[in-house]
Amino acid sequence: MKIINAALASDELSGLYTLTLENGKITGRERQDFYRKAADGDLNAGECLITHGFVDVQVNGFGGVTFNDDPSERTLSVMEQAALRNGTTKFCPTLVTSDEQKLRNAIAATERYMTRSDSAVAGIHLEGPFISRGKCGIHNSDYIRPLTDDTLEFILHHHSAVAMMTASPEMMTDRQMAELNRAGITLSIGHSDLTYEQVARKLDAFRTATHLFNGMRGIEGARSPGVVGAILDDHAIMAGIIPDLHHVSPPLIRTAARMMPGRLYAVTDALCPAGNGGKPERFMFCDKELHIADGFCADDAGTLGGSVITMKDAMQNLVKIGIRPSDALKMTNEIPARCIRLAGYSAVPKPGESGDLLLLRRDGSMTVIRNEKIIAEN
Ligand SMILES: [Fe+2]
Repeated sequence: MKIINAALASDELSGLYTLTLENGKITGRERQDFYRKAADGDLNAGECLITHGFVDVQVNGFGGVTFNDDPSERTLSVMEQAALRNGTTKFCPTLVTSDEQKLRNAIAATERYMTRSDSAVAGIHLEGPFISRGKCGIHNSDYIRPLTDDTLEFILHHHSAVAMMTASPEMMTDRQMAELNRAGITLSIGHSDLTYEQVARKLDAFRTATHLFNGMRGIEGARSPGVVGAILDDHAIMAGIIPDLHHVSPPLIRTAARMMPGRLYAVTDALCPAGNGGKPERFMFCDKELHIADGFCADDAGTLGGSVITMKDAMQNLVKIGIRPSDALKMTNEIPARCIRLAGYSAVPKPGESGDLLLLRRDGSMTVIRNEKIIAEN
């Protein structure tokens, strides 16, 4: 398959390009001297932007189902189909704070699912239960506990199915964190109530942070930087942020993007109504009833609990608040892919990389391309 007359989100690579796709990969990228006419089998990009599919490392539910309700291959299949239709070609199903049996079942189901050829699941994201009680948000605090060596052993045994773990450093020992890092699992600091002084010297163990500003001790004053201050002050850590424009106010998203160039990325933190037309409007999550009000999910006490956006919404929201479109693209594919060590997902696609691609049009519509086929238009 050839995609012709495609533009790239790069100041250096102007003009139009032809991408050649074979066996699910990009095998060629040539600059065109002029606008080409499409031959049989070509996809004419019509001067629109070509980029990689979205990578979402935090998805609680999608397409009407919730991973925590039933962490099974059946649930993953529904989430995957809905994700692909919405341009998310790799994602991490996210299990929030749960009991031990559910945690193990979820890891095992993810491992089995990932043996399917061409799975869009990039590994499970365990968000808790190794988190601070004081910043548990919507999570059920009954299940919060420190990491035991028994659980660590199980996780390490299934490490290829575990992409990411959100934890607060007081719930793991330095040795346990070192072992998880050695196994290639992305450790993410989140749901943490520690002070700056407690957290700063532990930050080297963490590759990234979970939903920056939400579920972590904030900047409480000129001499209390908190977890947020420690992350913004660090020169290496990455961070996810939820750009549904409800979780974090736009000035803080813009400020974080300026302070963490190439290290801040979008996550949806999506719940079951996302990718499902906003339905159902009331549902259970973390043993609490949530409802959608004015585009955000909360329990009756008003505690936020995830979003109903897709990654396309996330990207469009970032552009809407003033992030450069080329940076917004990187924040929805290239940077989250790097966070979980997923190769071949640059915002500016090149030979050797994945053939999971999106054609983005100026009117906001997009075409999703996978395995040399158009799998969705929306
Ligand atoms: Fe969370």
